[in-house]
Amino acid sequence: MLKICFVCLGNICRSPMAEFLMKYKLEKLNKSAKVDSKATSYEEVGNPVYPHIRPYLDKIGADYKNKRAERLQYGDGDYYDYIIVMEARNLTAVKSIVDSKNYGKIFRLCDFTSSPHDVADPWYTRDFDKCYKEIDFALDEFIDFLVKNKLI
Ligand code: 4NP
Repeated sequence: MLKICFVCLGNICRSPMAEFLMKYKLEKLNKSAKVDSKATSYEEVGNPVYPHIRPYLDKIGADYKNKRAERLQYGDGDYYDYIIVMEARNLTAVKSIVDSKNYGKIFRLCDFTSSPHDVADPWYTRDFDKCYKEIDFALDEFIDFLVKNKLI
C-alpha cells in the first residue's frame, strides 16, 4: 500500500488538515493508502490538532481526537513513498532530516496544481479558510496524479 506523509512546521494545522481530508477523499473514492502527518519542528510535539482547524475536520466527520503532533524522523525517509510538504521551507527542513537518497520523495503539495505555491502558515496569517481551500483543491490534483500513475 502506498504510504504518504504530509509535513508542515508544527503538525497541528496544515499537515493534519491534509491528512484527514486526504483520508476522507480516498474513502469516498474507495481507494486506500497509508496516510500520516508529521512536523519538521519539535515545537508542538504531543499537542492535538489546533482548535481553529477542528471545525473543518468536524464537517467531514474526521476522527482526529487521538492525533498528536509528531516530529518527522530520519527513518521516515525510507518508510514513506511520498513526503508532501506545505511550503518551501518545509522542503529544506525535510531534506535536513531524511537521507539524501530519499529527496526524490519530497514534493510541495501545491506543486501538483497548475499554479505551484506554498500553503501559507495559518498560524501566522490566521486565514484558516484560505488554508482549507488551498489544501482541498491541491489534494484533488494530487489524487488525480496518483490515480493517473496507478499508484492507488
Ligand atoms: P503548522 O502551523 O505548521 O501548519 O502546524 C504551525 C503551528 C505552530 C507553530 C508554527 C506553525 N509554532 O511555531 O508553534
